[in-house]
Amino acid sequence: MEFQIAFNDYLNTINAYLHRMFDDKTGSTYDAMKYSLYAGGKRIRPMITMACCDALGGDKEVALCFGSALEMIHTYSLIHDDLPCMDNDELRRGKPTNHIVFGEHMAVLAGDALLNYACESIVGADLKISPEAKIKALEILYSASGAEGMIGGQVMDIRAEEESISADELVILHNKKTGALINAAASLGAVASGKDKDLFYNYSSSLGLAFQIRDDILDVESDTETFGKPVKSDEKNNKTTYVSLYGIDGAKEMLRIETEKAISSLEFLGDCGKFLTDLAYYLLERKN
Ligand code: IPE
Ligand code: IPE
Ligand code: MG
Ligand code: MG
Ligand code: MG
Repeated sequence: MEFQIAFNDYLNTINAYLHRMFDDKTGSTYDAMKYSLYAGGKRIRPMITMACCDALGGDKEVALCFGSALEMIHTYSLIHDDLPCMDNDELRRGKPTNHIVFGEHMAVLAGDALLNYACESIVGADLKISPEAKIKALEILYSASGAEGMIGGQVMDIRAEEESISADELVILHNKKTGALINAAASLGAVASGKDKDLFYNYSSSLGLAFQIRDDILDVESDTETFGKPVKSDEKNNKTTYVSLYGIDGAKEMLRIETEKAISSLEFLGDCGKFLTDLAYYLLERKN
């Protein structure tokens, strides 16, 4: 109960911030950007940023700004992930995908514009931090989403549709395509509190892998209405996933192990780690 209240509180704060950023922006590019940004994502990444910052007693406004920029980048990655040349999916966050509504050209450009805006939103924000701290945040965001991070993982993911990959390679793929942004979420929370960016590294690394394993499981076990995106997309695209390599039960066991690892890494926080612990349990059983 306490967890659910805190969860909704973070969610509402993040959604209100994104609306403050974009509501007064008009025109066809913003229409396409806002369509996906307002479509109702879980906001897990900015929530991790805010919760890590709160666990360290840092400045909430800074974490909100950094985490929301990350949510813009995450949303762009989903718009591009759904394109016909990528996973070719027609439903996202319970709504038709961006390219279905606005056309492929606008989906590409709206994604690009969200990536740009993420940077602008940090550079232009009036925050009680040093310019160096902003640069540190930008470095974290843009290396995590780049060729060595999320984009690198997406490249491996597409290539793995044609060539079979090993279990070790699948860990690297998942760590890049999904883990990198979740690591960035936690790092941004630490930097927002003026602490070392790697303070939560063990937590977010295990949580990121667990998050993608759960996604692989839901792709097989869920239904479209609950999941908010097409099920069996991985099979359709011949993806290598935790389910295709280990079966449903094997994948669930690995999900449980990664979740336990994430939680045990939080001991150093004592009671301040409560929300992050509960969040890991929540994500273990999430339905969408
Ligand atoms: C979907 O991320 C892409 C993956 C990395 C599995 P989320 O499950 O966080 O999607 P939204 O933001 O809630 O729509
Ligand atoms: C995508 O992984 C991760 C991204 C970097 C967008 P998936 O392709 O499995 O994500 P979903 O299932 O479409 O959300
Ligand atoms: Mg994909
Ligand atoms: Mg996909
Ligand atoms: Mg998936």
